[in-house]
Amino acid sequence: MTKYRLLGPLEQVVTMAGLPLKGPLNDDQLVVITKGGILLAGEKIHSVGKFSDLIKTAGELNAEVTEPEGPMVCLPGWVDAHTHICFHGSRARDYALRNAGKSYLEIAKQGGGIWDTVTHTRSASQQELTAGIIFRAGELLKKGVTTVEVKSGYGLTPDEELKMLRAVHAADQEVAQDLIATCLAAHILPRDYDGDHGDYLSEISARLLPQLQAEALTNRIDAFVEEEAFSSSVIAPYFHNAKSMGFQLTVHADQFTPGGTAVAVEHGALSADHLEASTDREVSLLSQSDVIAVALPGASIGLGCSFTPARKLLDAGCSLAIASDWNPGSAPMGDLLVQASVLATFEKLTNAEVLAGITIRAAGALGLQDRGELGEGFIGDFNLYATDHYREICYHQGALRPGEVWKRGRRVFSSKEKITTDHGF
Ligand code: NIG
Ligand code: FE
Repeated sequence: MTKYRLLGPLEQVVTMAGLPLKGPLNDDQLVVITKGGILLAGEKIHSVGKFSDLIKTAGELNAEVTEPEGPMVCLPGWVDAHTHICFHGSRARDYALRNAGKSYLEIAKQGGGIWDTVTHTRSASQQELTAGIIFRAGELLKKGVTTVEVKSGYGLTPDEELKMLRAVHAADQEVAQDLIATCLAAHILPRDYDGDHGDYLSEISARLLPQLQAEALTNRIDAFVEEEAFSSSVIAPYFHNAKSMGFQLTVHADQFTPGGTAVAVEHGALSADHLEASTDREVSLLSQSDVIAVALPGASIGLGCSFTPARKLLDAGCSLAIASDWNPGSAPMGDLLVQASVLATFEKLTNAEVLAGITIRAAGALGLQDRGELGEGFIGDFNLYATDHYREICYHQGALRPGEVWKRGRRVFSSKEKITTDHGF
């Protein structure tokens, strides 16, 4: 039997309903229900509206009423549409080397960088990887992230990539969030591979992609398109094959040099992520496509390089999501709201653009239509902030943490009473 629950009265419910998926947004476009409530039907939202209206329906449905303690602002749970939280080992050495003047690509050429994490991740067991993901997802939960995309890409053999994606699958059974797995076997050419980039991708296509489908581990394929990783020409047949097998595509694009965006557009990827090096040409290409631009300010902060031209992208009519890119190398911070609100001050983004970028537009980047908005039929994922105005959230640049986090209609985190389990990492 469906369990009904009414939550409220809430000072403000910011629904994110009715916003265009593309282009600039101003704060007046946000639907803000004052003295609102959320009526839940099991995992899903039955209705959102004025508390005084919902209380009547709640009576008819025999709903349990939960009153928040003090004024609360409610928004959809954050969607972090790009992370690499399945990894082992630290790259604190790279961080020190970079700050002493070495570049990310120089460090990678000298055997540090992604390859260093591959070595450590290969040496970890699947269970150790799962424990690491569970810990990091727990950290994200306290920060209001209710959906987390997680990439492989530190295994770089069919077996090691499978180990990573099985670890993600196992962690998904344990954590409060939904984990959305993505295969990033095309991250770099592994140093111990006996063959060229094309050979490697052919092997991944033949030996790994069918197995991902057989085990239902993921329906998403990512690639790092960069001369030092995989060039546009070498990635084309790989993407073509993955697409014909039914995989959704996403691209690490234009992080250091332009090129990846054209690949994303040509192959109809769901998203093009990074874009720090995108020029007006790439902005224009994206604006004429349905590819969602994903800014990763955590990587700009981690590497000390320029931000994704978020303002230009929005003004050109693109859809912009914002994600953390949490990984041990370029973005070790793992704090989506801090990063998104810092991006806002540098790129002059409105609250509405930031909030859409980590909710409804981020859900779009993952091809998910059931979240990122508070309304009838959406899953009951939301955050409650102990404040009286949603503007306070970006303004505090992440320092204001959620008082409560709800996932699929259940309260899974409260800042007062710790519901999640830490694993002591
Ligand atoms: O998104 N650029 C490629 N991949 C990651 C970095 C991974 C790493 O440095 O370990 C990124 O920035
Ligand atoms: Fe990344």
